[in-house]
Amino acid sequence: MSCLNLLLLSLALLLSSIPHFASASSSLEEANALLKWKATLQFQNNSKPLSSWRTLPAASTPCNSWFGVGCNHDSSIYMLNLTSSQLNGTLNQFPFSFLHNLSHLELSVNDFFGPIPAQIRLLSKLVYLDLSGNKLSGVIPPEIGMLASLQTLHLHQNNLNGSIPQAIGQLTFLYELALYGNSLEGELPPSFGNLRNLAYLYLDDNMLSGQIPHEFGHLVNLMGN
Ligand SMILES: *[C@@H]1O[C@H](CO)[C@@H](O)[C@H](O)[C@H]1NC(C)=O
Ligand SMILES: *[C@@H]1O[C@H](CO)[C@@H](O)[C@H](O)[C@H]1NC(C)=O
Ligand SMILES: *[C@@H]1O[C@H](CO)[C@@H](O)[C@H](O)[C@H]1NC(C)=O
Ligand SMILES: *[C@@H]1O[C@H](CO)[C@@H](O)[C@H](O)[C@H]1NC(C)=O
Ligand SMILES: *[C@@H]1O[C@H](CO)[C@@H](O)[C@H](O)[C@H]1NC(C)=O
Repeated sequence: MSCLNLLLLSLALLLSSIPHFASASSSLEEANALLKWKATLQFQNNSKPLSSWRTLPAASTPCNSWFGVGCNHDSSIYMLNLTSSQLNGTLNQFPFSFLHNLSHLELSVNDFFGPIPAQIRLLSKLVYLDLSGNKLSGVIPPEIGMLASLQTLHLHQNNLNGSIPQAIGQLTFLYELALYGNSLEGELPPSFGNLRNLAYLYLDDNMLSGQIPHEFGHLVNLMGN
């Protein structure tokens, strides 16, 4: 074996013995995808809420240094919390297909506008989703019903319209559902009877019609209004 081969072999062994090497590169991908979305946003009143979101050197991670980002032990991103950050923009370029491990997404109280993209279904590990207090419009995408682990869904105080999708009734772990302060219309889906874990339901200040479906008798844990 030549010296060069030996050197390469030792290097390979060294790299494979650093446990976080592989995951650092995947969280670098997640970070780069977030930077592309950041580039589409505007910041009000000269605020610089995302000034810590900068291009990262290879083999580093956004964990610990980026505002609002929380990481798992393997450096993948599990939380994005940008509440009340004076952000203005859309979710069209949000990196849904990159953040595989995201379980908490909190973008409340900003000026996000436009639709909630159907690609939100790709955030398959979401437990907590709060997009409230923005200017989001259009319908609630039925794909939200594919987020099977969701426990908290806050879409209140936006400009959402159309009817409440039946598919929300598939979210059997849902504990808190707040849709108040939108322009939602039509009747409540009978599928809501499946939401056995629902404890808080806020629907007021919409244009909903019809009666409370009798299936709501199944919602034994309900405590909210
Ligand atoms: C931004 O500045 C304007 C004018 O000074 C003010 O009315 C507004 O409340 C500010 N926005 C935020 C989110 O602080
Ligand atoms: C996001 O951060 C705010 C404070 O900055 C905190 O009140 C809120 O609970 C956080 N949300 C989540 C989901 O951790
Ligand atoms: C957000 O940006 C859009 C498009 O640039 C603009 O029309 C709108 O006025 C902005 N919203 C606020 C609250 O500044
Ligand atoms: C993050 O996602 C990857 C790919 O889906 C997976 O292999 C890894 O176990 C996840 N990490 C955690 C902490 O869930
Ligand atoms: C909902 O709002 C969008 C624009 O935000 C509009 O194009 C659409 O016609 C509205 N749909 C309903 C059912 O009101």
